Formats: sequence, structure tokens, C-alpha cells
Amino acid sequence: MNHYGTMKVNAQGHLEIGGVDTVDLAARYGTPLYVYDVALIRQRARAFKEAFQNLGVKSRVAYASKAFSSIAMLQLANEEGLSLDVVSGGELYTAMAAGFPAEKIHFHGNNKSREELEMALDANIGCIVVDNFYELGMLENLCAARNRKIRVLLRVTPGIEAHTHDYILTGQEDSKFGFDLQNGQAETALKQALDSKWLKVHGLHCHIGSQIFETAGFVLAAQKIMEKLDKWHKLYGYFPQVLNLGGGFGIRYTSEDNPLPPGYYVTEIVKEVKHQVNMRRLPMPEIWIEPGRSLVGEAGTTLYSVGSSKEVPNVRKYIAVDGGMIDNIRPALYDAKYEAVLANRPLAKCEETVSIAGKCCESGDMLIWDLPLPKAGSDDLLAVFCTGAYGYSMANNYNRIPRPPVVFVENGKDELVVKRETYEDLIRNDLHLRVPLAE
Ligand SMILES: Cc1ncc(COP(=O)(O)O)c(C=O)c1O
Repeated sequence: MNHYGTMKVNAQGHLEIGGVDTVDLAARYGTPLYVYDVALIRQRARAFKEAFQNLGVKSRVAYASKAFSSIAMLQLANEEGLSLDVVSGGELYTAMAAGFPAEKIHFHGNNKSREELEMALDANIGCIVVDNFYELGMLENLCAARNRKIRVLLRVTPGIEAHTHDYILTGQEDSKFGFDLQNGQAETALKQALDSKWLKVHGLHCHIGSQIFETAGFVLAAQKIMEKLDKWHKLYGYFPQVLNLGGGFGIRYTSEDNPLPPGYYVTEIVKEVKHQVNMRRLPMPEIWIEPGRSLVGEAGTTLYSVGSSKEVPNVRKYIAVDGGMIDNIRPALYDAKYEAVLANRPLAKCEETVSIAGKCCESGDMLIWDLPLPKAGSDDLLAVFCTGAYGYSMANNYNRIPRPPVVFVENGKDELVVKRETYEDLIRNDLHLRVPLAE
């Protein structure tokens, strides 16, 4: 069995997380249920932060809240001294409701609306990551109308596509995000922002991909950006206070994944930036990163009840659970792989290979293909590992199925932090048909 964080098998032979029996959690909160190991989230946050501290570099570790946003989660991030990356008015609203310090929030997005930018300005957030010329113009006008300045980071695309095990160098990046570094867009954007009375160019940002298991892509991105910064320093006398190198640090979804420790990514990134600035006689910028998945992914486990099963002779056996693509759309969307055990008997011998189906009316609603399991029936609970990132945050109400609750566990205690949706919640915004529409 894969072990994450505080997971263990207790004296009853059940899977335990954070000192709490998962069978007990399922009985009290029902299934499906998202369970988060708070100690593991804290451990990850501290590992990133301490790596920077040990290197004596000014830094910010911002939690990319798109991975899992809820009031309690953002309060936990704040407790751990993280900054925050939001990408929508809704994520910003959640951050404000959580009492997250506005100065430590930065706002991403390739199509922020006027209302979202106004909301960010009203909330006095730390900075806005400007993605394109449309936004640059709109932000400038909004600031002029309010007679106020705002710090910005410019999001640049350095022409590197980092994938899980490799990276591809592209002269120009085919991405909907950011100002291209190679074709001159980034330089034009910088000049425009430097000329603005209202925008203070605090730094540059780039994000090269997700679920990355090597440091080469980050190192290359730092090199490409520093080359341009050297040039811009000479031409315009500008050097950024901040260099934000994004998120994307890989995690262990299955035993085939071998992620690096958080501190290793940080060390290699800092080493390269230091080398670049020393070589070019430039000042050392603050380094910011934005991990999402690597802070919360492995900390999340989803508990399901086992329901129906179907044997297709000589083909496969399907076992259905009471959730699926509503609470975890990643297998259907990205062919994402997961591992699972029976929470009520995780050490039982595997006797067959089965495929775990969701309950949605959609053939593609499969959670795991070809999973070794003991013979399972309706008394069993399935625990799917590593669902903490982009699980709840991508959850939906397909087939009008209510979204599951979220429980935090730590030191033998559990706390409900997101309630289960009800059928009433599902129809809250529905209006009755009043008159025949033709009249
Ligand atoms: C700009 C930016 N920063 C950070 C992240 C977080 O990535 P991850 O959760 O893989 O760390 C993303 C993910 O899409 C992103 O687009």
C-alpha cells in the first residue's frame, strides 16, 4: 500500500489518517467524502519555506488556491505563512471571506473581467499578474479613474513546455497565457507598463507546466528570463524586485511517480538564479513560487462506498462507487491515474483486478482502470489516494448529484470544513416557469 503523510493501518485493521479511523469518518459523514491530512499540508508548506530560509533568499511561497479553495483551507495556508494565488473573483472572494491578508494575495488569469480587476483594487491585494495587452490597458484606465497605483507582475512565456518527464524548447510558445518572451511582446508590455503612471512593475512571472519531476525546465526558464532581464536592465535601467517561477512541482499519484522533495526544486531554482545574477552583476531578486498540487494533492483521500458490480466475462469486472466524475473529473479529463485500497481492510490480499466506475450516466466516468483489489462488496469502502488537488475544486453537479463534504483530520481529531451539498442546494438558483413563454 502507498503511504502518504500520517496514514497508517490501525489496530482494527482500518485505514487511519491523522489519527482518525476512516471507517468511522465514513459512518459519521457519509460517502463520498474528501479527507485531508492537515499535518501533511503543513509539512509540505514548511518544506518549501524552510528551503528558501536555509538559502537565505527573500521569497514567497504562494499557495495556488485553484488546487483546492475553501475558507478553512485558506485559513490553514495563512496559518502556515503562505501567500496566495487566486485566479478568479470567486477565489478572491473566498480568500477575503477567510480573512486572508490582502497584501499577500496575487491575482492571475488570462481574461480577468473589469469587475474582477475592480474587486482586486478595492480589496487592496498585493499585486496583479498582468497576462495580456487588453488587461494592461484596462488596468491602467481603472487605476487612472481611481487615482491609485498598483503593483503588477508581467506574465511571460519563455518558450519552454515542461512535461512530466521532459521539456520541449519552442521558439515561441503556443499558449493562451502571457506575453511571449522571444517575439518581443514581453518587451513591448514592459515598456508600456514602465511608462505608466499607475502601474509599478514589481516583477516577472512564468509558469512552465504541471506535474513536473525534474528541475531542468525551471532552470532553463530562469536562464531565458535572466538573459532578457540583463538586456532590459541595460536598455531601460529596469530590474525586477520579484521573479515568480510559478508552480507545477510533481506529486506521487501512483507508485510509478517519483517526485523530488520540495527543497530540491527550490535549491536548484535558487542556485541557477544566483548564478545568473552573479555572472551578469545584477542584484538578486526575491524568488516567488506558486505550488498548488504539491501542497495539497497527496494530503487528500476520497472515501467511497462500494455499490453495484458487473462482470463482462473474459473482459473485465466493473465495480461501481457512489461518486465519480462529479467529485474527481481528472481521470475522464486527463486520463489521470490513481491508486486505491479498501479502507476497512487495506491489508487484505488482492484477489482480482477490477475497474472502478463512477455513478454518472457517462461511459467515460471511470475512476481507475485495472486496480488489484480483494473481492469487494457493498460492506466495503474504497479509499482513493492523492485526490487533494483539483478534486473538490473541479467538482461539479453532473446528473444533479450533490458535491461531497470535506473533512480535515489532525492529531486524532476531525473537523467538517465543507458541508455536503443538499438537493435544496442543487435547485437554489432554479426559477419556476411562470407563463407559457409564447404569451
Ligand atoms: C500560473 C499557475 N501557477 C500555479 C499553478 C499551480 O500548479 P500546480 O498545482 O501544478 O503546482 C498553476 C496551475 O495550473 C498555474 O497555472
